[in-house]
Amino acid sequence: MMKAAITGVHGYVPDYVLTNAELEQMVDTNDEWITSRTGIKERRILKGEGMGSSHMGAKAVAGLLEKTGTKPEEVDLLICATTTPDYVFPCTANLICDMVGIRNVGSFDIQAACSGFVYALTIGTQFIETGKYRRVIVVGADKMSAITDYTDRTTCVLFGDGAGAVLLEPNEDGYGVLDSLIKSDGSGQNHLIQKGGGSRYPPSHETVDNGWHYVYQDGPSVFKFAVKNMADVSAEIMERNGLKGEDVAWLVPHQANKRIIDATANRMGVSFDKVMLNIYKYGNTTAATIPLCLFDYESKLNKGDNLVLAAFGGGFTWGSVYVKWAY
Ligand code: UT7
Repeated sequence: MMKAAITGVHGYVPDYVLTNAELEQMVDTNDEWITSRTGIKERRILKGEGMGSSHMGAKAVAGLLEKTGTKPEEVDLLICATTTPDYVFPCTANLICDMVGIRNVGSFDIQAACSGFVYALTIGTQFIETGKYRRVIVVGADKMSAITDYTDRTTCVLFGDGAGAVLLEPNEDGYGVLDSLIKSDGSGQNHLIQKGGGSRYPPSHETVDNGWHYVYQDGPSVFKFAVKNMADVSAEIMERNGLKGEDVAWLVPHQANKRIIDATANRMGVSFDKVMLNIYKYGNTTAATIPLCLFDYESKLNKGDNLVLAAFGGGFTWGSVYVKWAY
């Protein structure tokens, strides 16, 4: 049976480091609160006029092409998960392809907030499994600083900018994406939302004055749903694949809050030394958290390792992917 194996991963984060100490100068917060409530110490911020998510995505993809020895003309499809596209249109995937020289193939964006990478990976996998394509790139790229209100202490401490990308190729030896689950519940829409700038509330003086172009989050409500659903979906994918906690080499969780990650690991029976973490240095980079984790931990991964990816985000959306690492 044809599976889609991840055969390479690369990541990019911008240079600027926004520390908890600097945030203390901007809003009424402190390092102790941020660290104990979220696990975040610092995050990266993309500076420079006219710079968008695509610039980070393109760096991740260019690095991925180079390290895997893949030529741009060998890529059959590129999917970008992002909640902070450079423009309303054209899509960020189109822009990334242009920057790295991938031409004349399909490219499109996926919008599933913090679950975007899990969604995009699930979609990319289908094109390999059907035999339609042989090389698919899945990118997660978000410039969350573009939609963060740096006067709102309840959100501005959480988010950061970054991008990560994986290459998918066919594998018939039992490695790769072996299962995935994607879920949503739109009744959660008002708990985590950027209300302005779309077709309901196009940009106007009023939308700007109301702060509707920023992320709004009802933290405690999202927290409750996130803890339950990320743990449930991870347990479900383990159960239906006959995996016990000790069979899982790595949990690769979306990085929104260290406490949500710990709850998920507990429920799965996975010990904390098997949980990938980058939240302390990057914060919540939305669609980029999971590929950036894979990139950071790449050297520790072994062929045959069982990985469970799990995410929860706005929508609400959530999901999980079971991967048998291929190299
Ligand atoms: O990635 C997409 C999905 N998103 C998530 O999964 C995020 C889920 N939510 C969370 O991670 C947490 O709810 C937060 C980290 C956002 C907030 O943590 P919390 O433990 O739920 O805190 P809270 O919102 O209940 O606030 C507790 C207190 C409040 O003060 P009072 O009312 O008790 O006096 C807040 O005003 O902490 C206050 N507070 C802060 N204090 C210092 C809120 N933000 C801050 C801050 N610094 N930055």
